[in-house]
Amino acid sequence: MFSCEFPRMGTGDHDFLTISVDDEAGTARLAAQLARVLGVGDVVLLQGTLGAGKTAFCRALIRAVLDEPEALVASPTFTFSQIYSADHLVVTHFDLYRMGEPEEVFDLGWDDARAEGAALVEWPDRLRGLRPTDALILAIDLDAEREQARTFRFSGPLDWAKRLGEVRL
Ligand SMILES: Nc1ncnc2c1ncn2[C@@H]1O[C@H](COP(=O)(O)OP(=O)(O)OP(=O)(O)O)[C@@H](O)[C@H]1O
Ligand SMILES: [Mg+2]
Repeated sequence: MFSCEFPRMGTGDHDFLTISVDDEAGTARLAAQLARVLGVGDVVLLQGTLGAGKTAFCRALIRAVLDEPEALVASPTFTFSQIYSADHLVVTHFDLYRMGEPEEVFDLGWDDARAEGAALVEWPDRLRGLRPTDALILAIDLDAEREQARTFRFSGPLDWAKRLGEVRL
């Protein structure tokens, strides 16, 4: 299961929630919790090194939105973006690792993704000045000693803190 540290409200960067999981199943449970509150216009920026678990988290979140535990969710490493449509929500999964200039994101359906659904973004630093300021930021850290353990740090506008608080992650 996961342990949870609450909250450090009022800090400058609004780093409001830290959750540690023991394994990938814990990551999937956390992703499913976030899936419950995700709506049209939401953007989640996933930060973390290669292999941190950004795609694993997105895959679990998308499967929860689709309500299909075995749904095929490949990393959009080469397509850069992939759209998933559920009855109640469309989710676009971006991996911007190989994107050159920030403006290229508009060719990937960036505006439609946010206007018509929710966007999950791996390697959001590639957006530079186009990085949405109202996004939920999720930083994933590896554990030096436990291969499958991860720490998830949520930050962003305090509006997000309230929304996550309501579902008691
Ligand atoms: N608790 C965990 N949460 C997520 N992934 C885990 C966990 N434990 C082990 N893993 C493994 O770590 C790897 C994470 O890979 P993943 O592709 O999700 O990383 P990524 O952050 O998307 O990397 P990249 O920057 O290359 O896109 C997978 O092989 C996954 O099985
Ligand atoms: Mg990835």
